[in-house]
Amino acid sequence: MYRIVRREALRPTVTLLEVEAPLIAKKAQPGQFIILRVDEDGERIPLTIYNADTAKGTITIIFQIVGATTEKLNHKAEGDYLQDFVGPLGKATETAGRKKVCVVGGGVGCAIAYPVAKAFHDNGTEVHTVVGFKNKDLVILEEDFRAVSDVMKLMTDDGTYGEKGLVTDALKQLIEAGNTYDEVFAIGPMMMMKFVSLTTKPYGLKTIVSMSPIMIDGTGMCGGCRISVGGETKFACVDGPDFDGHQVDWDLAVKRGAMYKEFERHAYEEACN
Ligand code: FES
Repeated sequence: MYRIVRREALRPTVTLLEVEAPLIAKKAQPGQFIILRVDEDGERIPLTIYNADTAKGTITIIFQIVGATTEKLNHKAEGDYLQDFVGPLGKATETAGRKKVCVVGGGVGCAIAYPVAKAFHDNGTEVHTVVGFKNKDLVILEEDFRAVSDVMKLMTDDGTYGEKGLVTDALKQLIEAGNTYDEVFAIGPMMMMKFVSLTTKPYGLKTIVSMSPIMIDGTGMCGGCRISVGGETKFACVDGPDFDGHQVDWDLAVKRGAMYKEFERHAYEEACN
């Protein structure tokens, strides 16, 4: 069992949990994730690691309430325990050797984009960040991003904070302004990553996306996280989560992502009743 040592509501639907997991904290790298189960009967969900504190032996995750499991997770308090907490899983994001990058984060995906942006920054890379949220109430980690960014654009869909528009609008502006990037790294909703990849393709800019499809075992055995990249089948949990965004079969990924929507809606309604 894994004890929650800190719980912070960042926004009404976005929560930070710091969990005691010293063995994972010792090994975790930016871009890697854990799979947790809230209780004995719970489903397994993957969540990317926001921070690993080796001194305290803790892992911090940030999640948005999007379904039954995250709703249950949100009801956990400091001092409560989680049934399972397994990791670090997946390959770490490659951040060495880049001169200039643009990190694009969407919504709660920013919780993952931040440690990656920080790792680039700590490696001496010039970091431009574009972060996007639906509205002002959902903005998270603004100061964290500012601290590691040479250039930062904060976008909201409705213009209630930062600039009005999509992350792809801001990314295009930066590219059109003459910025050439060794790499664009995107993490957020599937559609956002798809359109970031479509935006960078005409410019020939290498684009890495962090995929988070449905995962069950996290060990490459169940096939739940199967995606197609460059015509080959890949398992996001062991081959990723980072992939070349220009090679991902987005139509298949979106279709597979929607497969369990109805089931999830029922489970969510039950969890709320
Ligand atoms: Fe089972 Fe990846 S989660 S193969």
